[in-house]
Amino acid sequence: MTATQPDPAAAFKQQSAIQAASLVQTGMAVGLGTGSTAKFVVAELGRRIREEGLRITAIPTSIVTEKQAREEGIPLTTFGQQPELDIAIDGADEIEPATLNLIKGLGGALLWEKIVAAAAAQFVVVADASKYVDHLGLRCPLPVEVIPFGWENAARKLGHLGAQVTPRRMRDGSFFLTDEKNLILDCVFPAIMEPEKLSADLHAIVGVVEHGLFLHMATQTITAGPEGIRVLT
Ligand code: 5RP
Repeated sequence: MTATQPDPAAAFKQQSAIQAASLVQTGMAVGLGTGSTAKFVVAELGRRIREEGLRITAIPTSIVTEKQAREEGIPLTTFGQQPELDIAIDGADEIEPATLNLIKGLGGALLWEKIVAAAAAQFVVVADASKYVDHLGLRCPLPVEVIPFGWENAARKLGHLGAQVTPRRMRDGSFFLTDEKNLILDCVFPAIMEPEKLSADLHAIVGVVEHGLFLHMATQTITAGPEGIRVLT
């Protein structure tokens, strides 16, 4: 979404974000997600710090989120000082309601996002209701982060798994680079019916750093839509 294209789902994203931010209490170590919905979470936590005296420490999932958190006055920490988080709150690109399995990474931050989610006792997903799918892979490509060296071979092997593979690029045609200076290969699979098997197959490809399947990680999803707020656990 650009400044000239208002996001029609923004109000729903904000509702889910505010509800999730209300789970954060003084003393908690918090993982801060990335994306347009997580941005509302960071803003709400900043507001609560300023207006309610909330005291937290946080670890951001991207350089963009780190910048916003600093602007909001949220104290940041590192995994060196804080190996475990009480809660992480992040967006998602697809949510399978029956399992709470997710696809993440359209914003390109999936690696840090997965590290943060894996360190959190609670991983709360915030989204507008359009993110629900019957099966993962129906709505968006699966982002796979690969190291730049030899990426073409990783792409070929992804193709052998049945994916249509497109390296993510910037508007000027250059490769999109993640915060770790890796590439993202966007992989369109037919509906992903065996996500655990696909996850193992992806990890077996040399050069793949991480992928956007977040399986058995979310402890709660909070979505908002025309029918109100829906919480799944
Ligand atoms: C970034 C992500 C985001 O959480 C995901 O793309 C959802 O973004 P948005 O809230 O803008 O729809 O995984 O890597």
